[in-house]
Amino acid sequence: MLRKLLLLLLYAFMTRRSKAVSVPSASQTVIWGLGLETNIVVPARFFYIQTVDTTGKNFTTSPGEATFEVKITSPTDPYARVWVQILDRNDGSFLVRYRMYASYTDLHIQVLLEDKQVGKSPYVLRGAVYHESCDCPEPSGALWEKNMHCPATFSQIDIDLSVFSSVDPDRNAHEIPQRFEKRHSLCHYTIKNNQVYIKTHGEHVGFRIFMDAFLLSLTRKVRLPDIEFFVNLGDWPLEKRRASENPSPIFSWCGSNDTQDIVMPTYDLTESVLETMDRVSLDMMSVQGHTGPAWEQKISQAFWRGRDSRRERLELVKLARANPDVLDAAFTNFFFFKHDESLYGPLVKHVSFFDFFKVRDVYIDIRD
Ligand SMILES: *[C@@H]1O[C@H](CO)[C@@H](O)[C@H](O)[C@H]1NC(C)=O
Ligand SMILES: *[C@@H]1O[C@H](CO)[C@@H](O)[C@H](O)[C@H]1NC(C)=O
Repeated sequence: MLRKLLLLLLYAFMTRRSKAVSVPSASQTVIWGLGLETNIVVPARFFYIQTVDTTGKNFTTSPGEATFEVKITSPTDPYARVWVQILDRNDGSFLVRYRMYASYTDLHIQVLLEDKQVGKSPYVLRGAVYHESCDCPEPSGALWEKNMHCPATFSQIDIDLSVFSSVDPDRNAHEIPQRFEKRHSLCHYTIKNNQVYIKTHGEHVGFRIFMDAFLLSLTRKVRLPDIEFFVNLGDWPLEKRRASENPSPIFSWCGSNDTQDIVMPTYDLTESVLETMDRVSLDMMSVQGHTGPAWEQKISQAFWRGRDSRRERLELVKLARANPDVLDAAFTNFFFFKHDESLYGPLVKHVSFFDFFKVRDVYIDIRD
């Protein structure tokens, strides 16, 4: 009996102790990120909080979703409207992002832990703090790059551009439409005096809106040099000429080793960034706050959903029906092939993107 009591006491003591060890500390907790600087002008500004306990140790699991409070105000505008979101990354850190709907002079960011200032809070962004829609281009491209902490170079860009030692805009304006506009869709962009002009070629040019939005956002941030270029609006790269065969410079959302297209971030990504905390609910960063259950609790299964846009997908779904314990793959739609329910099962409803994080194994997908 005594032994049991002792054990119980010891147990209680130990759990108390382990709890006592991991108390978040306002002064030790670390805050950093580009969203604490005035001149990083992006659609949604962001920074990180790493919870540190009173003994100086990092938290590696969540201290609780509502541990920190973030207040953003402008002393010059009592009605400042800033939308703040705190995403619990479930590893002891938080991603804080905020979107402004107007520009303000001076912005005060306070991070609070039970009313105590955290880290070096309050952070003050001095001067004019511009919002995404502000038409406030920095005149100097070099200064803008420095403000944005752009790396000096990206090897991908260097490699793609190395093929084009010089560019002849007149030749491009003539040759690119002639070679490609019959079967493909392209945009000929001209930027002059920081205004964006466009001429479309080909039939299906709806996707230009993504490129337009991206360029307009950029011209609001920095004064661009006068420049002309072509953008391929299709899903596959176009320029098959070798480097030695005078290829045409074409910017694309895709590339391959045997084409010369200059690859840029795909429209899903640029849209996701431009509309973060605004029109889209599924932006790139929101994933960090929806990592699903802890690794041990994730379902040990591979998971796939999609439509029948490729024969391999039919095989995948058949494979899943034969091995339901390791693979959960099903169609949400049939479009290209005949839907034989005895082979592929019934159509299933779409799942939320975040549901993909409930499983442990690879999310298989096959694209063309
Ligand atoms: C604690 O977290 C910070 C922020 O992520 C990191 O820079 C630091 O290396 C971590 N410290 C340890 C001891 O892991
Ligand atoms: C493409 O080129 C890269 C770099 O030379 C190489 O690592 C990669 O294996 C190539 N991919 C294919 C599919 O040939």
